[in-house]
Amino acid sequence: MSVLTPELRRESEEIAARYPTRRSALMPLLYLVQSAEGWVSREGLQEVADVLGITTAEVEAVATFYTMFRLEPAGRYVVSICTNLSCALRGGKALYERAHELMGPGAEQVTEDGMLTLHEEECLGACDAAPLVQVNFANYDRVTEEGLAELIEALRRGDPPPPSRGEHPGDLKATSRLLAGLGPEGASE
Ligand code: FES
Repeated sequence: MSVLTPELRRESEEIAARYPTRRSALMPLLYLVQSAEGWVSREGLQEVADVLGITTAEVEAVATFYTMFRLEPAGRYVVSICTNLSCALRGGKALYERAHELMGPGAEQVTEDGMLTLHEEECLGACDAAPLVQVNFANYDRVTEEGLAELIEALRRGDPPPPSRGEHPGDLKATSRLLAGLGPEGASE
């Protein structure tokens, strides 16, 4: 079965038409696939290549470079914990290890309840907010171990708390749809 339904194919064309060169729509279309599947499968890579008229290898080269694209099944919430220097100095590594304990075995793929994926992240460019945690790319500043436990509890209930700025974009499918440059599913734009 195709990843891109006829409606998603139509939206793919809408996205591609925003750019002077079709291949420039590569990343938005990877997000579109991720919004449909909750991750990006091999079939999804091939369908993006097909829409853009480029090779699957070209699509894969981009998809494997950026950690925002999950190339294996993922939880509804990807919890990324920075362990680079500034965050490490302020407890980022201990936070990551604590997250491992709280989420349980297999957390780096997907937790047994299908809700969470744990990701050890490189610098996220917000070193002044160390130690930094992101949930589906929304930042939580200066997270303590206690705060982390509360955050994980809330995510398991499907109820992400407001990040340090703005609103939370939702689960990985909803977030990916926004990053594809589209509104919530079913919303008229
Ligand atoms: S080192 Fe963690 S955000 Fe820069």
